[in-house]
Amino acid sequence: MSDSPDSSRKINTHTFQLKKQRGERLTMLTAYDYPMARAVDLAGIDSILVGDSLGMVVLGYDNTLPVTMDEMLHHCRAVSRGASRALLIGDMPFMSYQVCVEDAVRNAGRFLQESGMDAVKLEGGKERIPAIMAILEAGIPVLGHLGLTPQSIHKLGGFKAQGKTAEAALSLLDDALSLEEAGCFSIVLEAVPSRVASYISQKLKIPTIGIGAGNECDGQVLVTHDLLGLFDKFTPKFVKQYSVLHQEINKALKNYQEEVIQGEFPTSEHSFIISDQEWETFLDQVGDS
Ligand code: KIV
Repeated sequence: MSDSPDSSRKINTHTFQLKKQRGERLTMLTAYDYPMARAVDLAGIDSILVGDSLGMVVLGYDNTLPVTMDEMLHHCRAVSRGASRALLIGDMPFMSYQVCVEDAVRNAGRFLQESGMDAVKLEGGKERIPAIMAILEAGIPVLGHLGLTPQSIHKLGGFKAQGKTAEAALSLLDDALSLEEAGCFSIVLEAVPSRVASYISQKLKIPTIGIGAGNECDGQVLVTHDLLGLFDKFTPKFVKQYSVLHQEINKALKNYQEEVIQGEFPTSEHSFIISDQEWETFLDQVGDS
């Protein structure tokens, strides 16, 4: 059997490992619903993360902390209906894995059993090893997440880059090595200086996926709403907007409003017809001919 990645074949965690070994970069994007999952999957992106960023870019919360398991599962189900090739990763929300290992395994299992995900992601370093190992023992692949971990913003003092001192960089490296040893198939590095992320990527056998972590991680992830310019509240420094859909949408909606007010929409092109004969019969029957 060939071990070459086939562009039509379902991506799995082994594909991640294979791509790292071959020096091929991995691509990951977020999606939270059926149409976006379809678009990301059809574009050939390797992996779709149903991130808890859902809370900010779709549900309108100020941060990711209020997102619940039920909300995550609801959106994961929609995504799994829209994607067939990409590796699907469900993001474990705040308090779904921090309280005890039993909760962590049960909640991780729900992502696979109830919502069609292939793997889960959770935030944190060494302190998460018992939960990660128990989830792995249940046969569920785990993606780690280090650096800026948004579920800890209150502890971190806000959405700030991490690993900017020698001590902090050392601690990140240590955490990354521990997650690898525990069995994570990959690690997201968020808002970490490029040099630190590059060094960690070279030291690990598993692939790193960077977001605000420079160009030398083994792959990249972005929040799709940021990349498309759909979310206008703020744009993090590390985001490149490949489109400004927020403005496009605004333009389209204003056009619609104007055409309705002016009576220009709908035209016959967007309307249904009744034949002359049926219309005459109708008028006869209502006594209006
Ligand atoms: O929730 C999310 O979308 C994430 C990515 C930014 C990595 O965790």
